[in-house]
Amino acid sequence: MSQSYQSILFETDDHGIATVTINRPDKLNALNDNLLNELADVFKAIQVNEDIEAVIVTGAGDKAFVAGADISELRELDNRSGRMASQKGQQIFQLIEDTRKPVVAAVNGYALGGGAELAMACHLRIASDNAAFGLPEVGLGLIPGYGGTQRLTQLVGRSRALEMILTGKQVKADEAQQMGLVNDVTKEDAAEAARSLIKKILKNGPIAIRNAIKAVYHADHQSGYQVEADLFGQLCETEDVMEGTSAFLEKRKPDFKGK
Ligand code: COA
Repeated sequence: MSQSYQSILFETDDHGIATVTINRPDKLNALNDNLLNELADVFKAIQVNEDIEAVIVTGAGDKAFVAGADISELRELDNRSGRMASQKGQQIFQLIEDTRKPVVAAVNGYALGGGAELAMACHLRIASDNAAFGLPEVGLGLIPGYGGTQRLTQLVGRSRALEMILTGKQVKADEAQQMGLVNDVTKEDAAEAARSLIKKILKNGPIAIRNAIKAVYHADHQSGYQVEADLFGQLCETEDVMEGTSAFLEKRKPDFKGK
């Protein structure tokens, strides 16, 4: 299945893996308002499509994942419209984070500003060795507005997050991995490495994967332990748990049905 939007390419393969490609290579895939709307539409469609089991988000071309929000549009904003633009970006990136199927960013070049924020809204990040991450907004007299101040702090800790946000400096793929900002760095095609990772994940129980994502994201909330226990209990009643535990005891591979 394949469907194209104006600035996004969307395709799915036989394994139920969808690829969302941000497609404005002449502007280094900068996120303009129309592109953000399309990103919201594509993720709403992904969430209700039962044939899709996991998602790769990447950028067109070999230079950039996404080089940020479209700077030409930022110039038009005032206090009210600026707050609304920030909230809109936050909501769309939250929609991505709330997807209960693994979402992996394949970061194939610059991930700056809104691009770094998009990568951080994905559940996992695989970077090509030419990738560079940065939140350069202070250089424009701004701060990250699509959740970057929060997610970067959660991923790398306050001290490193403040250093990156206050200096606007770029960190290369290897350093990003050392900081915990990316899961892995590859010399090969980042999307292909993301696909291999997803295939490993999809060998496991589908309901367990969904609930694990949900529980991990509750780690930041007081209610996280309660949510973890509730979800653990729900899983104990699934056929998948019977299959997974039986397979282990019978020394064979499990055949999960997602039930
Ligand atoms: N918004 C709008 N347009 C952007 C953009 C952005 N965030 N990032 C790049 N572009 C455009 C450039 O204006 C240029 O367009 P043009 O060819 O019509 O002039 C095109 O993409 C190529 O970018 P260019 O700057 O010429 O490439 P480069 O290789 O010299 O530099 C970067 C690459 C990523 C270092 C540089 O483009 C950059 O700093 N971009 C802005 C990053 C940023 O501040 N992002 C945060 C925004 S909140």
